[in-house]
Amino acid sequence: MQHLLSLFDLSTKDLEGILATATFLKTRLNRGERPPVLERRVIALLFEKPSLRTRVSFETGMAQLGGTSLFLGEDVGWGKRESPADFTHVLGQFVDAVVCRTKKHERVTQIAKFDAVPVINGLTDLCHPCQALADVITIQESLGSVAGKHLTFVGDGNNVAGSLALICAMLKMRFTLACPNEYRLNQDWVAKIYQQYPQAMIEETSDVKKAVGDADAIYTDVWTSMGQETESAIRKQAFADYQVNANLMSMAPSHARVLHCLPAVRGEEITDEVIDSNQSDVIVQAGNRMHAQKGLLAWILNRDWVTDNVAAES
Ligand code: CP
Ligand code: NVA
Repeated sequence: MQHLLSLFDLSTKDLEGILATATFLKTRLNRGERPPVLERRVIALLFEKPSLRTRVSFETGMAQLGGTSLFLGEDVGWGKRESPADFTHVLGQFVDAVVCRTKKHERVTQIAKFDAVPVINGLTDLCHPCQALADVITIQESLGSVAGKHLTFVGDGNNVAGSLALICAMLKMRFTLACPNEYRLNQDWVAKIYQQYPQAMIEETSDVKKAVGDADAIYTDVWTSMGQETESAIRKQAFADYQVNANLMSMAPSHARVLHCLPAVRGEEITDEVIDSNQSDVIVQAGNRMHAQKGLLAWILNRDWVTDNVAAES
C-alpha cells in the first residue's frame, strides 16, 4: 500500500510523477477545469495540532477533484478510546486515505503499519513532506528549473528543513542549512539521505552570510515549532543572528527568491520588509500546497488516470 510518511517512501521517479500531476491539475484549474479524478472518494484529516494551510488545502483540493473530506479532531479518541489496530481498521473501511498531523512521528508510522488505508503525513516533529512538494513547485515556477539550484535554509534544522534537504537530494539541488551549531538537522536523517542519494549536496554551517552568498532561494521557518513553546526564550536568543532581513538579502544574489512555509512570526525569523518584498514567493507557495496535494492524492488514489492523462501528455 502506498503511504507518504516521509519522502523516503517515494523514488525520484515517483516524485516527478506527483509533481507533473500537480502541475497538470494546476494548469487545468487555471483554465477553469476541475476534472473529477477522485469522484466520491473520501479522505479523513486526523490532526493533533493546529493548521490553516494543510487542512484547508487538502479539503478544498479534494472537493475540486470531486471527492470529499472529513476533519477529525481529538474527539475521535485516537489512541485514547480504543486500540490503534481497532481504530485504524475501522477508519480504513470508511475512507480512502488519511492525512495525519501528529506531535510524534511514531504516531503516523503506527497507523500506517496496519496497511488498512493509505496514510499521508500532514506534518510531524520529524518531517513535512507535503510542504516540500509545494516548495519545489514554487521554485520551479519562479526560477524555471530546480536541478542545480541552491536552496539555503536560514534557521532551525527542523521538520521543514529535513524534508527540504531530502527533496533537494532527490532533485539534484544543493541544500545549505545556516543555523547555530546546536540546531542542525537530525544527523540520522542526513545519513539516510546520503545512503539513498550518495550524490546529495547538503551543507550545514553557522556562517549565514556565506550561506546566502550564492543562493537561488532563501527559505526560513519559525524558530520555535509547535510543541517547543517552552524553549521559545532560549531559541529567540540562539537564532538572533539568523533573521532573514534586508541586510542579509543584500548579501544574496539579486535574483534569489524568498520562501517561508508559514505561519511566520514577523519580526523574528523574517522581517516585514523581506516577506512582503517582490523577491518573496510566500503567498504563491502557500497556494501551491493545494496543487501539490491534488497531484499527490490523484497519484495515490487514481494512478490509472495519471498514467492515461498526465504521463501520456508529458
Ligand atoms: N505550512 C503549514 O503546514 O501551515 P499550517 O500549519 O497552517 O498547515
Ligand atoms: N516547523 C513548523 C512548521 C509549521 C508549518 C512547526 O512544526 O510548527
